[in-house]
Amino acid sequence: MRHYVELKRQHPGRLLLYRLGDFFECFFEDAITASRELELALTGKEAGRGIGRVPMAGIPHHAAERYCGLLVARGHGIALCDQLEASPSQQGGLIRREVTRVITPGTVIEEAMLTARRNNWLAAVVGDDDARTPCWGLAIADISTGEFQATQLPDSAELQQELLRLGVAELVWAAGAEAGGGSEARRPGWCPAGIALTASGCTPFTAAAALARLLDRFQLASVDGLGLGSLPLALGACGGLLSYLDSTRPGTTVPLAMPTTYQRSQYLVLDHQTARNLELTQTQRDGLLQGSLLWAIDRTVTAMGGRSLRRWLQQPLLEREAIEQRQDSIAELLGNSELRLCLRRLLRPMGDLERLAGRAGAGTASARDLVALADGLERLPRLAGHLADSISPHLAALRCVEPDLLSLTRRLRETLTPTPPLSLSEGGLILDGVDETLDDLRDRIDGDEVWLRDLEQRERQATGISNLKLCLHRSFGYFLSVSKAKAGQVPDHYIRRQTLANEERFVTPELKEREGRILSLRRRTAQLEYELFCRLREEVGLAAEAIRRAAVRVARLDVLVGLAELAATQHYCRPTLLEGRAMEIVAGRHPVVEQTLVGGQFSANDLHLGEAGRPDLMVLTGPNASGKSCYLRQTGLLQLLSQIGSYVPAERAQLSLCDRIFTRVGAVDDLAAGQSTFMVEMTETANILHHASSNSLVLLDEIGRGTATFDGLSIAWAVAEDLAERIRARTVFATHYHELNELATQLSNVANFQVTVLEQEDRLVFMHRVRAGGADRSYGIEAARLAGLPSDVVLRARQVLGRIEANSRIAVDGEPEAVGPEAVGSPADPSPRSLRQRGKGKKAAKPTAADRVA
Ligand SMILES: Nc1ncnc2c1ncn2[C@@H]1O[C@H](COP(=O)(O)OP(=O)(O)OP(=O)(O)O)[C@@H](O)[C@H]1O
Ligand SMILES: [Mg+2]
Repeated sequence: MRHYVELKRQHPGRLLLYRLGDFFECFFEDAITASRELELALTGKEAGRGIGRVPMAGIPHHAAERYCGLLVARGHGIALCDQLEASPSQQGGLIRREVTRVITPGTVIEEAMLTARRNNWLAAVVGDDDARTPCWGLAIADISTGEFQATQLPDSAELQQELLRLGVAELVWAAGAEAGGGSEARRPGWCPAGIALTASGCTPFTAAAALARLLDRFQLASVDGLGLGSLPLALGACGGLLSYLDSTRPGTTVPLAMPTTYQRSQYLVLDHQTARNLELTQTQRDGLLQGSLLWAIDRTVTAMGGRSLRRWLQQPLLEREAIEQRQDSIAELLGNSELRLCLRRLLRPMGDLERLAGRAGAGTASARDLVALADGLERLPRLAGHLADSISPHLAALRCVEPDLLSLTRRLRETLTPTPPLSLSEGGLILDGVDETLDDLRDRIDGDEVWLRDLEQRERQATGISNLKLCLHRSFGYFLSVSKAKAGQVPDHYIRRQTLANEERFVTPELKEREGRILSLRRRTAQLEYELFCRLREEVGLAAEAIRRAAVRVARLDVLVGLAELAATQHYCRPTLLEGRAMEIVAGRHPVVEQTLVGGQFSANDLHLGEAGRPDLMVLTGPNASGKSCYLRQTGLLQLLSQIGSYVPAERAQLSLCDRIFTRVGAVDDLAAGQSTFMVEMTETANILHHASSNSLVLLDEIGRGTATFDGLSIAWAVAEDLAERIRARTVFATHYHELNELATQLSNVANFQVTVLEQEDRLVFMHRVRAGGADRSYGIEAARLAGLPSDVVLRARQVLGRIEANSRIAVDGEPEAVGPEAVGSPADPSPRSLRQRGKGKKAAKPTAADRVA
């Protein structure tokens, strides 16, 4: 128990699994955590005088991998303490045990514990106490693929956004005096929930220590070439990250690329809320991939390609040239469906070259991994052949294969058996003709096996027992079997081993000797094969960099072929990229909704914003469920798709580049973060007004609906006005506040649009068509009736609406046409008395005391 406590002190904040015989046991707090997370029985163990009974929970050692995977997936770090010997080396001593592996959510490399189609980021963060700008350094690495990047961020809000964008699995931060354990209580405000957190001492994060570590690790004379020379905090974060890796994987170096630096502003900035509202990689309601943009556009066939596409979506480009390069590649592939088919066929079984190379470098690759790697590498020259005539740079990049990779492929093929066993310790890995000693050992085994095979015949002749047989038993080894009746005829040198009902089993000294020799030869062969395999794996590890360079190109090809396939099958068009601020979409469609719509046809819609004679801000009204939100999101998604270089679902599109896209949906609960609905809405709106520029695209969906009607309306008015007048951002503002239509009469760059419906007798037909002009009704009660609200409630609602419209002291105008600017009042003072009160949308706020029907 003393040893356990000592180890626990060295690994605070991790679950310590301590090997006792056939089990890994946890004690104290860890036992309680493990039993809760893994649904294990919680037992107890007597821990001696003074301590008494302590909680204990255990897992069978052979199932450790699976249970560790579950714990890591839930954000726990694990220290595995194993037995280093089967029995105590000293009489009466203790069995030697040591921590042999530390597994944490950000440092796993085992295939079974990773998600194939997403990066697994480990992040390191260091802050600047002087609070000069910039004040945060962030380094991120994916241990499984070797990617390593660093950046500096000016404030905690941006740091948080970046961590959310990346979906970091684990974070190490320089907590200084607070170091020791990743307790939830000390989670800093900027650290998003759900990230496994480890507080560390500051020393490895200092620029000096980090510099020394990087120079040593990458054998460099200076870090200026990496762009880190002028970024001391980013440099510090890299140092902290490497130091943490060294502490969790002692003795092995995972192959990481040299760090590169980036800035958030190099890419189109999508804050976390926008990514969530646009459902880029998961749906808002259930957090599922299915139903997200990624799901709708992903036609990649490899895991590397899948990860790449996800990254493209999260980091759209700002440079026209880079975007057009991607477009050019898609155009080239789009024009040649046969080539696309060939490429996809070659790519599909290519394996995850990036992660295979990583496992080889970390010394955890199996023989099957290396065979898979050879399979993948072997396809490179074939890809090159198909792309020999390609023109666009992304495709042309694959026209030649690095000679080192070709020779490595040959080495793998000439060394490994085509279908090696899972286990590395039982032989069967290495082909004949690779190593002389191995061949020699195998020859000797063959010789002995021939001797054995002939033995049966020889003994039959010598003894005259015709049914004598040579057999093999798993635990006894070889023996000669003679039927009961003939057992008396065996010669004297036969030694009886076992008696069965009808059979006697014998061995001879000569047989035992041969058997011993074969066993020892087999052991030596297996050992030699393992050594040869390890040498080969090291060789592959040294080539990890080159393999990954090729893998990056292959992943990019996979994404581009996928996007071309998407464009071909879903009838996308190539957007023309414009200078300036114009946005023109003809017959645009929502990429996800059009694919999920069962039966019905999607109604395409146009959009014109930001050019002469066109508005900057569009006020979009229309009944409930008519398609406002859909149109709004579709606008954001088309802009985003065009900035990742993809084609877009439209007949024609001419788009200028945005610096940021903002999307806000009014009144979305953020219960998880413990914030009030309306406060969330307002914080997010404030953020937009502070950060949007005339080059941004702003999409606001029912902003202001989360509070009392008139407060909400007034806020919506003021926000829209500020966006149109001061910021001049291109904006779509969907709302049920029809009063906002008045804004168009005040500001020349605001225009009204509506989604139309047909009223047929007592039912509504949704046309989903966006037309100029403002709607004057929300048909909220009709929508409620369609949704199945009891008919007497619907009836009563109609009565109440009638009375509000007739009696409300605020309703000054009966006819919409009668409402002119004077009725609304000056925009600086839109007095509520002059605003008309009408049935609001499904989430209409409670009427204020004055509005209530008596
Ligand atoms: N252009 C379209 N073509 C076909 N169906 C559409 C179209 N736009 C929207 N829809 C369908 O109508 C449904 C409702 O659309 P949406 O949520 O955008 O309505 P809304 O106007 O925002 O309603 P609310 O005011 O209640 O928020 C969508 O789920 C979609 O299935
Ligand atoms: Mg809506």
